[in-house]
Amino acid sequence: SVVHVLNGPNLNLLGHREPAVYGDETLADVEMRCRRLAAGLGLGLDFRQSNEEGELVTWLQECGADVASGRSVGAVLNAGACTHTSVALRDAVVGAEVPTIEVHLSNVHAREAFRHHSFISPVARGVVVGLGVVGYELAIRALQHYAEERA
Ligand code: DQA
Repeated sequence: SVVHVLNGPNLNLLGHREPAVYGDETLADVEMRCRRLAAGLGLGLDFRQSNEEGELVTWLQECGADVASGRSVGAVLNAGACTHTSVALRDAVVGAEVPTIEVHLSNVHAREAFRHHSFISPVARGVVVGLGVVGYELAIRALQHYAEERA
């Protein structure tokens, strides 16, 4: 099976965008690390990024169908700024029954107040913030662990 890793707005700029906050690794670097880790766990990787909220909704719905059929262990979701704005993403996680681990590279709680609220957190299986790329890797491990527990 695969693990889905879904990235939201502006994460395509990773490595160039505010490196003091987000680090100097690019999204391609993040994808490579995730792919290596997933392979070590016997998982394929479906890694995507979109600047459009609606596309993330569609991908969560697809992921939910893949979880139902046993093809996916769930989604690592870094929804970027949509985290703080999007009821649609929250509804997609719930409606499509996607085991979701919310990830943020930066420690959103140490930043502006508007980053402290997440529409995703209450419906996520877990949340990893502030650990950079390592957060993605921990989230993949956790999804694999809980998928085995469900099986
Ligand atoms: C982010 C944190 C969000 O507040 C921000 O809008 C992002 C990136 C992170 O990974 O730290 O785009 O999700």
